[in-house]
Amino acid sequence: MSFQIAPSLLACDFSRLGEEIRAVEKAGADVLHLDIMDGHFVPNITFGMPIIEKIRPLTKLPLDAHLMITDADKYIEAFKDVGCDWISVHVEACPHLNRTLNQIRKLGMKAGIAINPGTSLAMLEGALSEADYVLIMSVNPGFGGQGFIDQSLDRVRQLKRQLTEKTTKIQIDGGIKESNIRRVVDAGADILVIGTGLFAAPDYQAQIKKLRAAALAVA
Ligand code: DX5
Ligand code: ZN
Repeated sequence: MSFQIAPSLLACDFSRLGEEIRAVEKAGADVLHLDIMDGHFVPNITFGMPIIEKIRPLTKLPLDAHLMITDADKYIEAFKDVGCDWISVHVEACPHLNRTLNQIRKLGMKAGIAINPGTSLAMLEGALSEADYVLIMSVNPGFGGQGFIDQSLDRVRQLKRQLTEKTTKIQIDGGIKESNIRRVVDAGADILVIGTGLFAAPDYQAQIKKLRAAALAVA
């Protein structure tokens, strides 16, 4: 069973951003997850290109931008220019989803479709073949530290069955902790976004080790 761990910087200490990034890379993270919020699609605002540009030279890890913004098309190239490697856009915020995904891929990045807990998986159907990954939200987007929505496990299972393209990965984001990571991986998730479940721990290396062990533990 293989999966990737993607720390969400939203839960880090932003006053020590560089140190936090180096620490999670050293601790064995596979991808860095960047939560971009616009105060419009979601009721919160985070950070944008100037910060990502500063992050880029600090790490070799792929930068995964989760765009919780409207009008994503307008900004895809700018996110590429500051060094993003993966970009996911929300199905609820992208009226021309195939075009947006193609735009991301044409620029040489991996393209993902993010979907809220309350949105039918049927909304993905017409665009799945253009996506490198699907981000199943296991909380309503906007804030870190929320409780995992249990129905998300069924949604991961259902999507796994639907995926005909075996290369399409499933990413899951929100409320993932040592206590539920095993169920998430068993359901079929490949990329696990973890914010407070990692950054609240005093020792990131020990915590990633614990998370991996919990995910692989024999029941
Ligand atoms: C929520 C974000 C998540 C979130 C994850 O809108 O997309 O990435 O910050 O944080 P935790 O793991 O604390 O739920
Ligand atoms: Zn996210």
